[in-house]
Amino acid sequence: MTTAETAPPPSMRLRELVFGAACAAALRTAARLGVADAVGDSPVSVEDLATAVKTEPQPLRRLLRALSCYGVFAEQPDGAFAHTDMSRLLREDDPHSLRYITLWCTEPWTWDAWPRLDEAVRTGRNVVEDLYGKEFFQYLNEDAPESALVFNRAMTTSSAQSAQDVADFLDLSGSSSVADIGGGQGHVVASLLEKYPALHGTLLDLPRVVENADPRLRPGGALAERVNVVPGDCRVAVPVRADVYIIKNILEWDDDSTARTLRNVREAGGPGTRVVVIENLVDDTPSMRFSTAMDLLLLLNVGGAKHTTDSMVRRLTAGGLVVEDIRPVNPYLHAFDCTVPA
Ligand SMILES: C[S@@+](CC[C@H](N)C(=O)[O-])C[C@H]1O[C@@H](n2cnc3c(N)ncnc32)[C@H](O)[C@@H]1O
Repeated sequence: MTTAETAPPPSMRLRELVFGAACAAALRTAARLGVADAVGDSPVSVEDLATAVKTEPQPLRRLLRALSCYGVFAEQPDGAFAHTDMSRLLREDDPHSLRYITLWCTEPWTWDAWPRLDEAVRTGRNVVEDLYGKEFFQYLNEDAPESALVFNRAMTTSSAQSAQDVADFLDLSGSSSVADIGGGQGHVVASLLEKYPALHGTLLDLPRVVENADPRLRPGGALAERVNVVPGDCRVAVPVRADVYIIKNILEWDDDSTARTLRNVREAGGPGTRVVVIENLVDDTPSMRFSTAMDLLLLLNVGGAKHTTDSMVRRLTAGGLVVEDIRPVNPYLHAFDCTVPA
């Protein structure tokens, strides 16, 4: 544990911080090479590991030594490496795997965008449109299929992990239909349909995302008869009538997109409709370092932001909703329960 006595002096700490890219690159490399998947329950020699992941042993040892400094893998006295709680999260088969989140946060486009953070801070605008000539999600789905796949897998991991929390949290008794706007591959909808056997659901997301919807929602899937999967752009239209709309981890983009989405949801639902907006908040988070980093990444890619409770309420109110209640869903997510006024 780092204490005031053991903390490195400021000059050393700052030197370490400016090499944050080296740490991110090392994590990305371990995730891409499948190093964590190749380490089992007992320590493994670097030579055996190198054979398993098809690398040279010496550079692999250097990679593992660098990661061990951060508590990702642990070097044993005989030079073998073992898992730590953190390195296990890089395994694809870990129930709380962060492998795709690791890849997503370090995708090639991020290395193009970070050097332009000064420009984004100066202008308050995203840099992706300048870099690639189109909006981020359009770039992702049209020009960077590998990154799009990583994004969808990362979202699948985190929404699969949070979908059950959302389903446990939301009381939809008395409602007959729910629509998840920008619902990714539909884990939240699926969990809610499983919780409420009479509920009807709609999943709306971009066409290339819903093509890979959760198998439970696709034709022949266990929930297919109670779901509509709608490809679309929620900033253009929300052609879905439902009693309850869920908007989870979407309103982190630019304010114009937020305003258009809320207007479309309001118009689709009409007065009295319940709209539940679920977000990570930058002012009430177990990890300020992660949330503020994600906030800067959102500035770079979509000109967006992670919100505080106040800034979220302001946007929802400006979007014509009445915020009735704000409650934590789990340690990372907060739900803003809103209604469309008469
Ligand atoms: C951060 S993910 C959140 C996904 C899901 N709601 C969840 O919480 O797991 C953002 C989602 O917004 C979708 N999205 C982006 N632009 C969109 C648009 N214009 N219309 C509909 N969905 C959009 C993305 O495809 C992606 O699935």
